[in-house]
Amino acid sequence: MIQTADSAPAVGIIGGTGLTELEGLQITGEKSVSTPWGEPSAPLVTGMLSGVPVIFLARHGSPHRFPPHQVNYRANLWALRDAGVKTIIGVNAVGGIHAAMGPAQIVIPDQVVDYTWGRGHTYFEGDIEHVTHIDFTFPYTEALRLGLKAAALDENVHCVDFGVYAATQGPRLETSAEVRRMERDGCDLIGMTGMPEAALAAELGLDYACLALVVNWAAGKSDHIITMDEIQDAIDTGMAGVRAILARFIQQGYAPVGRP
Ligand code: HPA
Repeated sequence: MIQTADSAPAVGIIGGTGLTELEGLQITGEKSVSTPWGEPSAPLVTGMLSGVPVIFLARHGSPHRFPPHQVNYRANLWALRDAGVKTIIGVNAVGGIHAAMGPAQIVIPDQVVDYTWGRGHTYFEGDIEHVTHIDFTFPYTEALRLGLKAAALDENVHCVDFGVYAATQGPRLETSAEVRRMERDGCDLIGMTGMPEAALAAELGLDYACLALVVNWAAGKSDHIITMDEIQDAIDTGMAGVRAILARFIQQGYAPVGRP
């Protein structure tokens, strides 16, 4: 376990596109670790945020090295759990399908549809005697979602507190027909990194929630194709709100509820 300056369990934050480091984090250490599943995307960065221990992990590496389909999600979650983390917030950049989920909007989704394939998506493999079918009815920890929502309210940052996250394989963006299909499937937002992260956290019994920043309208939902410039603009506009929510959430304190 990584020692933090405090005895409280550290909150883990997995930063995605636009959040490769955590501003305001008073860094106390950086540790390269390995796990039975290989190496995580980057060293674990330990520090204090609002006086509370935090461990930050850059999902795509630091600098950005791993595209969504090549992130070692198993190693990332395992490393954080080994470091003593019981609560993880995954920050994800997403495309918006739902009318309330336009660029720069922050969303705390409540459900997932998984369209990814070929990723290391479970810790239960090899020895089929020990396969465990975890319950995944509710993919995100409700208490944690509520904590993030309360933090957003306190910070006056507008956030949408519902949404079905469509996890796609990437790295390409979708066709407009794929987006229409996902909409028919009941999806509200699309990202490439939400799964298998959420399921692996559940397998490890960790509290987990997603804090999503919409960085573009999903393909076919606007009158233009998706450009990197518009994505960067939305990150520049919206990431301050994400940081404010994280800092307030950490400050307000959170007691992990654990889940099987
Ligand atoms: N689709 C999938 N993943 C994404 C998108 C998108 O439109 N925007 C950011 N990540």
